[in-house]
Amino acid sequence: MRKLFLFFIATVLSVSASAKEGMWIPTLLEKYNIDEMQEMGFRLTADDIYSVNQNSLKDAVVIFGRGCTGGMISDQGLLLTNHHCGFSNIQSHSSVEQDYLSDGFWAMSQGEELPNPGLTAKFLDRMVDVSDSVFAGTTGLEGDSLQQKLNENISRIQREATEDGKFEAVVKPLFFGNQYFLYTYLVFQDVRLVGAPPQSVGKFGGDTDNWMWPRHTGDFSIFRVYANADNEPASYSPDNVPYRPKKWLPISLDGVQPNDFMMLMGYPGTTQQYLPSQAVELIQNQSNPDRIKIRTTILDIFDKHMAADPKVRIQYASKHARTSNSWKRWKGEIRGLDRLQAVEQKKAFEADFEVWYMQNDTLEATYAPVLPQFEKLYVDLQPYEKAYHYYQEIVFKGIEIFKLADFFPRNDRGWNRVDEARHDMVRKALAIKVADYFDDYDQATDQELFVELLRMLRNDLDESFLPDDLTKLLAKFDDDKLVRRVYAKSVLADQEKLQQMISEFDGKKINKLQKDPVVELFQALKQHYQRNIENVHQEIQENISTVQQKYMKGIMLMEKNFQLYPDANFTLRVAYGQVEGYQPRDGVNYRYYTTLAGIMEKNNQDIPDYQIPDKLRELYNAGNFGEYETNGEVPVAYTASIHSTGGNSGSPAINARGQLVGLNFDRCWEGTMSDIMFDPDQCRNIMLDVRYMLFIVDRFAGAGYLIDEMELVSE
Ligand code: ARG
Ligand code: ASP
Repeated sequence: MRKLFLFFIATVLSVSASAKEGMWIPTLLEKYNIDEMQEMGFRLTADDIYSVNQNSLKDAVVIFGRGCTGGMISDQGLLLTNHHCGFSNIQSHSSVEQDYLSDGFWAMSQGEELPNPGLTAKFLDRMVDVSDSVFAGTTGLEGDSLQQKLNENISRIQREATEDGKFEAVVKPLFFGNQYFLYTYLVFQDVRLVGAPPQSVGKFGGDTDNWMWPRHTGDFSIFRVYANADNEPASYSPDNVPYRPKKWLPISLDGVQPNDFMMLMGYPGTTQQYLPSQAVELIQNQSNPDRIKIRTTILDIFDKHMAADPKVRIQYASKHARTSNSWKRWKGEIRGLDRLQAVEQKKAFEADFEVWYMQNDTLEATYAPVLPQFEKLYVDLQPYEKAYHYYQEIVFKGIEIFKLADFFPRNDRGWNRVDEARHDMVRKALAIKVADYFDDYDQATDQELFVELLRMLRNDLDESFLPDDLTKLLAKFDDDKLVRRVYAKSVLADQEKLQQMISEFDGKKINKLQKDPVVELFQALKQHYQRNIENVHQEIQENISTVQQKYMKGIMLMEKNFQLYPDANFTLRVAYGQVEGYQPRDGVNYRYYTTLAGIMEKNNQDIPDYQIPDKLRELYNAGNFGEYETNGEVPVAYTASIHSTGGNSGSPAINARGQLVGLNFDRCWEGTMSDIMFDPDQCRNIMLDVRYMLFIVDRFAGAGYLIDEMELVSE
């Protein structure tokens, strides 16, 4: 009886899959979603979103850089994404003298647009289910031989799909490898910066408001994709011309109303919707708290040095934003999981699962081992997971001089194997890498990180996870001495000496570098990590994956009458919901939109995150908002109940008629557990109202010529 009851609850909780939960596969909309979408107000067809035969909305949505989405908004290659997605590019063109972060940047003609080496825009050519070809010839295989065959098949499919280098081709697993899709992309390499508002608009509210509602961030930047004379991808050349995309998004001036249908198309990165209870427990009680603790220390040190020195403020702006972003999300996630009683819900679902496989012997033989295996594996994983996060956050990401130490070879073997021409290339490449590193490096800041984080590593991890060298070093030296004897003595702390050494780099220098105190310490840590943590951690993770794949297969069978969506894996998805606010806590009701008036209200010239440009206040006071206003207000941002995650930033928010009305950039803090468990009551995504973007471009920046390029529509 109890089991039956749980079965009922868990089924309702996990798969009543309210319209709003889910990130769906564009080629399967016709089969799974289109009826519901149309019931919710969508007026177009599945073919309008993704079609193999005609241009469709998918042709206007790109992978921007390494982790964001962008949307095409003109027939001349204009690309709209977030300010935080273009941030590192805007930063790289900035200096204390010419500070585009603070002042904004607007190319007043195409000739003034700024190239960004390394930045790409990827257009999806096609996606196909290739499961049959990936699984071909694998029946009966297990373990390594299975993996080898799968890899062979995948490599072959990818190789053939590139069509001699025309496309980038990737095969990605869905549902933990129960299904595989092939994706091919056209990769454009000449993507130029066209415009970015000053941070006081584009990052208004900063890390204080990040992940929060009500929100007033003008989080957008504009780029342009360039192509060769044949409209094909080409590396940067002054002769390139603006790319004419197959499809660009018309921009609606009509705005949004409560309950309006709203859809995001974009590239959500990672979600973990099908984890067992033990995994959720580990994240909630150990992994998130550990990482939050380490990053709190890092952020405190950043804050101190950034406040004291304007140069450090620019150097560390991007690092600070990156570090604090997940830090804050993890906090929200803990709270959300707790509030949802996610672990209990997962346990209830697992009880369902047991009832389900017990219905017949074959199922029972296959699936009965799954949950006990998880139970054991997660107990084994726990200490290694802790050590893994500490090493990642401290040794490989936190202490900067260790990253520098990792640029150099550990012995002269590789060096001696190649000839002088190659040596010279290595010297040049190293010189560039090192120069880049020092551009955004402040020694005083990093020294403090070095001391504080090493102490934390020492204090929090079990002795067996630490090399003796570190334990001895920290026992022998106080903080000052540690800096004097290790950090300050290292050639890595002296840019000039280091570059000199690189220009004369040879086998002898490589060997000598191994005795450098920082290199020595880093190598001791890295080796200890590789020998005593990484292997075991990886092995347990692999075993977990094998069990998880089977568990997923079981869930898919058990739920075969419901539509399931695969976890996000940075491939194109469609998610939809409706425009609505929410109630974050008892007695509080959040309206679904914010306005320019709210920016004036938040404005505080004493708090960096809430400073606004004078020009914006003048525009507000003048009150002539033209076509960008509605009821006397300029709308800034709005929320909807759409399931989104990291990578969805820059996703076009599209209305029922297939027009651009918003630009996705964040989620509300109370709903950040949506990566693990979605709650239709609390999970909201945050979008810029596209009219605020137009207002800033036109009235604030005076770049109206860009608007002439766009296709503005009104019903
Ligand atoms: N939270 C948003 C996302 O995950 C915005 C992050 C950038 N902004 C910031 N203040 N760190 O990408
Ligand atoms: N801000 C995120 C991004 O950059 C979006 C999110 O996590 O909601 O993709």
